[in-house]
Amino acid sequence: MAEPKRYITSEELKAHNKSGDLWISIQGKVYDVSEWVNHHPGGELPLLNLAGQDATDAFVAYHPGTAWQFLDKFFSGFYLKDYSVSEVSKDYRKLVYEFSKMGLFEKKVMGFSFPCVLWH
Ligand code: HEM
Repeated sequence: MAEPKRYITSEELKAHNKSGDLWISIQGKVYDVSEWVNHHPGGELPLLNLAGQDATDAFVAYHPGTAWQFLDKFFSGFYLKDYSVSEVSKDYRKLVYEFSKMGLFEKKVMGFSFPCVLWH
């Protein structure tokens, strides 16, 4: 039989808000990034700023789709009991979804590499 899901509240998440004890949540799942801050390609600061909080929209905004595959490694085993999405975030996520479908986030390799060849 599957293990029952384990939950914490947003208040409990807030307690893990510092270097060495740094948790964030993304889409209702809680991640322990205490060690990852030292290896994160985006540096320590963005993670420290969002420590103990929901980081879903920042995660979506700052990463290519390939970053999602890293998340599982940091799953704490906890889900947020009181996870909810604000109206603003809902709108933002809808926009990202529509823009992605339109291909607006795809890398245009030639668009960047061709001018570089001309300048160097
Ligand atoms: C468990 C959580 C996170 C993981 C696994 C993760 C993973 C990554 C990875 C793999 C990259 C390199 C992406 C690439 O190939 O270009 C990256 C870059 C970055 N991440 Fe995160 N990240 C996390 C959380 C966050 C959060 C919460 C923020 C908040 C803003 C953030 C901001 C950034 C920034 C600014 C960069 C640099 C982008 C660039 O210079 O091109 N990350 N992260």
